[in-house]
Amino acid sequence: MDNVKRILTGDRPTGAMHIGHYLGSLKKRVELQNEYETYIIIADLHTLTTKPNKDDLKDLQDRIREQVLTYLAVGLDPHKVTIYRQSAIPEVCELATIFGMIITVPRLERVPTLKDQLNNLHIAEPSFGLLGYPVLQAADILMVRANCVPVGADQASHLEVTREIASRFNSLYGKVLPEPKALFSAESTLIGTDGKAKMSKSLGNAINLFDDPEVVNKKVMAMYTDPNRIRPTDPGKIEGNPVFIYHDLFNENNEEIADLKSRYVSGQVGDVEVKKKLAVAINKFLDPIRDRAKINNKKDLLEDIIEQGTKIARKEAVATLDLIKTSMGL
Ligand code: TRP
Repeated sequence: MDNVKRILTGDRPTGAMHIGHYLGSLKKRVELQNEYETYIIIADLHTLTTKPNKDDLKDLQDRIREQVLTYLAVGLDPHKVTIYRQSAIPEVCELATIFGMIITVPRLERVPTLKDQLNNLHIAEPSFGLLGYPVLQAADILMVRANCVPVGADQASHLEVTREIASRFNSLYGKVLPEPKALFSAESTLIGTDGKAKMSKSLGNAINLFDDPEVVNKKVMAMYTDPNRIRPTDPGKIEGNPVFIYHDLFNENNEEIADLKSRYVSGQVGDVEVKKKLAVAINKFLDPIRDRAKINNKKDLLEDIIEQGTKIARKEAVATLDLIKTSMGL
């Protein structure tokens, strides 16, 4: 049952994805889909770890469809990748229960994302499920016996837990599970439009992949630049300036970037021109994404993709669980 090159990656369906997600993980997945057998999980159970209220769940079905639409829009091909829904695979929960027996509570308490979640979301005490977040993720990954996991750097500690669980399982019950490697993208974090923190939906500093051109214009024109530059004739700073970071990442016209940079440092260009050209570049980057979203935005199509993918993933899940139980003597 060894598989040579299999990937599992995915997201919690938390709503609109932004250009930071694109650079941090989506872009890499699009490249990898041609080389690897790719599974993409829509991790709806994981959303419950911090948002278990009925009210949090009311638009879940819409968010799941939007998630699939986002994948199609950035260029993932449902004929090449298997997109599936976590909660439709009950075997994953059984596997998570088994894995929970071979990792300790203090080990999970040391996972840095746990502390981040508690702080950011002002949670006084983690639920059993939130503490177990990386265990459930390990079940996702090992369920399809993936050997590579392309994720943003923020997921590194979860991958570490997965590897430890796989290794411990193998030493207890025989070599059954691969110890998957993380594949990180070069640009793992993108600064937000406010220049203060990583781009994130909750901070309101994001440009979403499905934003309309006018919305993009507005967000770019309001971007943070060099705070010490008051007049266009002041020499400006390029390093760490989000407007130029974005130019470097999204503007395909290198001559234009070089020209803007040289005029910026010598005080010969206003922020408005730099931003207008950036908005054009970002809109040009987003055009094909928005077009593909428009074409594919059909409820039946999106649901069909998940259903087909879930069938395929479930087969793997059943086979892996069988293997695991047999090796344990359960
Ligand atoms: N924790 C991941 C995130 O928030 C989502 C996820 C759940 C995942 N299960 C996974 C990612 C398995 C990769 C593999 O981004």
